[in-house]
Amino acid sequence: MEKIKFLEKKNRPWVIAHRGYRSSFPENTFSAFEAAIEVKADMIELDVSLSRDRVPVVIHDKKLDRTTDGEGLVADFSISELKELDAGSWFNKEFKGEKIPTLEETLDLIKGRINVNIEIKPESFEISEPMDAIEIQVCKLIERLKMEDQVIISSFEHSFFGRIQNFCKKSNKLNFIRIAPLLDVFQNKEFILSICRRAKAYSFHPNSSFLTESLILELKAAGYKIFPYTINENYRMKELIKSGVSGIITDEPEKLRE
Ligand code: G3P
Ligand code: MG
Repeated sequence: MEKIKFLEKKNRPWVIAHRGYRSSFPENTFSAFEAAIEVKADMIELDVSLSRDRVPVVIHDKKLDRTTDGEGLVADFSISELKELDAGSWFNKEFKGEKIPTLEETLDLIKGRINVNIEIKPESFEISEPMDAIEIQVCKLIERLKMEDQVIISSFEHSFFGRIQNFCKKSNKLNFIRIAPLLDVFQNKEFILSICRRAKAYSFHPNSSFLTESLILELKAAGYKIFPYTINENYRMKELIKSGVSGIITDEPEKLRE
């Protein structure tokens, strides 16, 4: 198998498949990830939460209702209960039987095949044991599977980043994890730069609605890559590519590839 090199230099922006190939497959499932690999996306974006027994699982919403045949909070169910649910039929009957993947199963599936942007969702409940925290569980998996070359961790919860850096400092096996702050609403440039500095960010992942050419230039000059989300329209893809983004997070990886 050809080994991928993380963020190898390309003369085009990266195609990042949002929750897998989300426009044509049930989001955050093996089908959606395989499809993203098939159409030669450069990276998959996926969302991670914890089950009741603190297993990292790949699902976007806090609740099961929209994307499975279950009801209620993901965090209220054990991994074996979650595995009984159907995460495909809601999208189309042909995907009946698709399961909620664990993060470990997903990393096993894609190891050496495609890069991955793991978005860690904020925890639903207060935790008492810091080593149990979601960001630490994710770090432990990346360490055990030796996948740091393939991974960017992003989150709207910027307090995760210090603990991730500390984990890497203390680990004998994991020297670094690439970190990306997510930002949903506009803040001024100074504030954005300070978020990136504090996080020791590799890249910055903004909502594309407030991303301007001058902000892109400023962030690039400071050494950060920019991967905005979620862009599905041709004209906006073109605009952002012209403005010099490093990649685009999209539900339409095939369209962006073209
Ligand atoms: O990581 C980019 C994007 O996925 C963030 O928003 O709600 O789609 O996870 P959301
Ligand atoms: Mg996401």
